[in-house]
Amino acid sequence: MLLELLRNRTSIRNFTGEDISMEIIKYILEAGRLSPSGGNEQPWIFGVIIDKDMIKKVSEIAYNQKWIESASFLIALCTCIVEKECGGRDIQKARFPKIAEVIENMNDEIYSCLNVEEHQTKIPGTHMALAALEHGIASTWVSYFDVDKMSMLLNLPKACIASEILAFGYPVNKKEPLKKKKLEEIVFYNVFKIEK
Ligand SMILES: Cc1cc2nc3c(=O)[nH]c(=O)nc-3n(C[C@H](O)[C@H](O)[C@H](O)COP(=O)(O)O)c2cc1C
Repeated sequence: MLLELLRNRTSIRNFTGEDISMEIIKYILEAGRLSPSGGNEQPWIFGVIIDKDMIKKVSEIAYNQKWIESASFLIALCTCIVEKECGGRDIQKARFPKIAEVIENMNDEIYSCLNVEEHQTKIPGTHMALAALEHGIASTWVSYFDVDKMSMLLNLPKACIASEILAFGYPVNKKEPLKKKKLEEIVFYNVFKIEK
């Protein structure tokens, strides 16, 4: 069942824009809430954007990706730096011991930019995209946007940035999924081996 949903999933950039009930939106959010995270820190907040003017502004900040305007709603997946114990930074130091000192001395702003890759919002985002698919709702990820402008628009606290935005809606047309690499091309067992 899950594989069937995944086989038919594809990014949609042409939505009908029709309203989606709060009940379904909450179902999608709940799927995100249940995500795993390193140390169960859950270093995220989720911003639901339904207001059409706000959706338009997001599309402008996303370097005028006009298609975003057709979405019924957006969810901003926001990463928050974990305060105090800075568990995140200690974990990165342990993961990259050769540059531990650099990581230790990196100022918060730079650290926060680099941190985005690690920051685990893609997990709740994936849960959400799947929960939406169960209801026939398609989605597309957006990470091509000006992070500073997005923080201002969403009035985010200083320790948080929007890592990605997910745009949701019903597709106008059925779209064939894109071709994916075969398992043989991307899987190795035990030790990586280059096939001649
Ligand atoms: C993290 C991430 C960021 C993305 N950002 C954008 C984006 O800013 N704009 C866009 O049109 N698509 C974006 N995409 C969608 C990809 O282009 C799309 O997933 C890819 O082409 C594969 O197509 P598929 O999702 O239909 O399999 C993003 C996808 C991911 C996973």
